[in-house]
Amino acid sequence: MSELDLLISGGRVVSPERIIDADIGVLNGRIVAIGAAASGLSARERIDAGGLHVIPGAIDVHVHFREPGFSHKESWTSATRAAAVGGVTTVFDMPNTNPPTSGVEALERKRAIARAQAIVDFGLYANIAPDNLDQLVPMAKAGAAAFKLYMGSENPLVPCPPDGVILDAFGIIAPLGRRVTVHAENTPVLMHLGDRLVASGRIDTAAHLAQHADIATIEAVSRTGIFAEWTGCPVHIAHESCRHSLPHLRFAKQRGVDITAETCPHYLLLDTAIAAHLGHAIRVKPPVREPGHAGPLWDALMDGSIDMISTDHAPHLPAEKYTASIWDAAPGFAGVETSMVLMLAQVSAGRMTLCDYVRMACAAPARAFGLAPRKGAIAIGADADIVLVNMDKRGSITAAGLHSIGNFTPFECFALHGMPVRTIVRGRTVALDGRPVGTPGWGRDVILEA
Ligand code: DOR
Ligand code: ZN
Repeated sequence: MSELDLLISGGRVVSPERIIDADIGVLNGRIVAIGAAASGLSARERIDAGGLHVIPGAIDVHVHFREPGFSHKESWTSATRAAAVGGVTTVFDMPNTNPPTSGVEALERKRAIARAQAIVDFGLYANIAPDNLDQLVPMAKAGAAAFKLYMGSENPLVPCPPDGVILDAFGIIAPLGRRVTVHAENTPVLMHLGDRLVASGRIDTAAHLAQHADIATIEAVSRTGIFAEWTGCPVHIAHESCRHSLPHLRFAKQRGVDITAETCPHYLLLDTAIAAHLGHAIRVKPPVREPGHAGPLWDALMDGSIDMISTDHAPHLPAEKYTASIWDAAPGFAGVETSMVLMLAQVSAGRMTLCDYVRMACAAPARAFGLAPRKGAIAIGADADIVLVNMDKRGSITAAGLHSIGNFTPFECFALHGMPVRTIVRGRTVALDGRPVGTPGWGRDVILEA
C-alpha cells in the first residue's frame, strides 16, 4: 500500500462487541487497515492514541440547526462546531426551519447553507406536511436522508397532517428506502388540554407537563406502530420520554414492524424534581416528566427496545426560555455538544459499558438510517469518522463553554468523567481538546456526496 494519510496508533478500539488494541490506517478519508496490517505502514500524519479509547464518531439523527430562518438561535457554523467538540461526526437536521423543509426547493436551499458552513457530515430531513404528498418522492430523489412527521404539533410552520394523509404519506415512502421519524404525540389531545389549561389561568412550569399528558404519547406511539405495520413504512419514534409508551413500542417490534426509537440524555438523567431549580427553562416537547420514567427508559435502552441516543438539540436564546408564563418559554435546549460527555460519565459510573455506548450512539443509528457500513463503525472501508476518548479526563458542563449560540443547558455543573479529546471526520481533525479546528465546508451531505 502507498503511504497512509493518517496512522492512529496505540489506542484501544471500541466496537459494540469488544475492545481491542489496534492501530488504524486512513487513506483518502477511509479506514484502510486495522491492527498489524496498519502498524508497519508509513503515514503523513501520525496520532499517538496511547492511553485513549478510539470510538466511531457519534451519529445524532435528531438536531435542529435552525437555518434558514432562526440564525439568531444557531447557525450551521456554530452548531457543527458544537457537534465536533462533542464527538458527533454526523447529524440529521430537522425540517422545522423557515421556510420548513417541505419541498425540493427548500431542501436544496438548506443544503447550500449546510454545505457552506458544516465541519461535520450531515443529512437533511424532509417534512411530511398536510399538503405536500406530491413532494415526497421528489424530496427523496433530491437527497432527503429521512422524513419527519410532526404527529404532535402546535407549530404553524409544521402542522400535523390528518391521519388519512399520514397513511398516504407512509404508503408513498414505504418503497423509497427512507425512514420516517415521528414526533409521537396526539395533536388534538395537546390542543384540547392546552386550551383548557390556558383558560384556567395556569402559567406555571407544571402546566406544560399537564398539557403533554402521558396519554398523548402512548396513543401516538401505538398509532405510529399500527400505521407502519399497515403500510410497510419504516418508522422511528423520536425522543421517547414516557415509560407507559414502552409496551406499545415493544409490541410493535414483536409484531415485526420496522420501528426504531431514540431517547435523549434529558429523559435519562433528569426529572421534574432534579430540574425544579430551572423553572420554565426546562420546557421541552415532549416534557421532562415526573420521577419514575428514567429507570424504565434506561432498561429499554439496555435491552434494545430503545435503539439509540439522540439529542433533540433545539437551541434557543436564554432570554427566550426565561419568561413569565410557561406558554411563552421556547421549548428545547442545546444538546449536541453534551450528549457524549454525559453518557461517558454514565460509563464511568458503571451504568453501561463503552461497548454499549458505541452500539447506541454509533452502530444503531447508522444501521437504522441506512448509513452502515460506511458510517458508525471502525471497520475497513468505513469513513474515518473517529473520536479519541480519554476516560480519565474530568470536567464539568457550563453553558458559557458551549459553542452553540443558544447555549442554555439543563446540565449546568454536571460532573464529567470521560471526555472526547479529538474528533476526526473522514480523516481530518475537526476538534481538538475541546476546540473546533475544522474548516467550514468540510462537512458533506451523507446521501448526495457519499
Ligand atoms: O422542544 C422541542 N423543541 N420540541 C420540538 O418538537 C421542537 C423543538 C424546537 O425546534 O425548538
Ligand atoms: Zn426535535
